[in-house]
Amino acid sequence: MPLTQKDFLSIANYQKRELEEILDLAIAQKVQLKSGLLAPTLVGRTLACIFHKPSLRTRVSFEVAMHQLGGDSLYLTDAEIGIGSREAPQDVARVLSRYVSAVMIRTFDQSIVDTLAKHATIPVINGLTDLLHPCQVLADLMTIREHRGHLEDLTVAFIGDGNNLARSWINAASKLGFRFILACPPGYGVEQAFVEEAIGDSSCYQEVNEPLAAVKGADVLYTDVWASMGQEAEVSGRKADFNGFQINSQLVGHSPAHSIVLHCLPAHRGEEITDDVMESQRSRVFDQAENRLHVQRALLSLLVKPSGGRY
Ligand code: CP
Ligand code: NVA
Repeated sequence: MPLTQKDFLSIANYQKRELEEILDLAIAQKVQLKSGLLAPTLVGRTLACIFHKPSLRTRVSFEVAMHQLGGDSLYLTDAEIGIGSREAPQDVARVLSRYVSAVMIRTFDQSIVDTLAKHATIPVINGLTDLLHPCQVLADLMTIREHRGHLEDLTVAFIGDGNNLARSWINAASKLGFRFILACPPGYGVEQAFVEEAIGDSSCYQEVNEPLAAVKGADVLYTDVWASMGQEAEVSGRKADFNGFQINSQLVGHSPAHSIVLHCLPAHRGEEITDDVMESQRSRVFDQAENRLHVQRALLSLLVKPSGGRY
């Protein structure tokens, strides 16, 4: 069944069946790619990738995914476009819609992504904002599904900041019906208004101030940097506040023997996660990074109109 949305702005906009369809296709295409059987369905299509923040995984995986589907990609920064300064977002959206087949954007303010999507006639994909990082959580869910075979009866413990990743995880827990526990220092949780809108009267989300309380019974231990891109001025204050909110072997030892460790990367080894845990048998962080490629290729396959091999 086709996706009901033109864009991929937030997991909250997607139905459970659509999220499962993206994951199913990502897993199937991963096998096809490794067997040399992936069909180039987007020959002649172009993806514009706009970056207002740095990236390794998001940029490379989107560009490579597009090439693997037979299409092209363009890398654009704010120095070229000047969204909101040189040109209004609605005009950028209209012009890009005349040239390319889809836009992926990483920026600060979610409203820029939403405005582009509203005025573009082509799909717009959220490649990270201060508010959300939905593509990352798709890759995380794929990694968990590969490991466990399913997402039923799942508990994810997130040790860290109530940031863009944590919010997209709350959306995913609400849509897919699993438990998500955030362990953060007081004052670093996800905003109450966001939680209420995301989960309604569900009990899928819990916030605690003690990492040990979160990991007992967790199938997945997850973490991310203490200070996100754009919070550079807060780095030293956050280092003090997040002291103890680290995934280390002692904390892993308090979780069930089957638990796995995920990190969206980039990691600050020795801060939110230790070297030994990153390199341990329990860590799936590099499978997780690889899966960015597979989920994004699946997303592009479902959102961008196939070309039939012709321009
Ligand atoms: N996880 C992630 O989004 O990585 P990049 O910031 O390198 O794209
Ligand atoms: N929360 C991090 C995620 C990086 C992929 C950030 O926004 O910098």
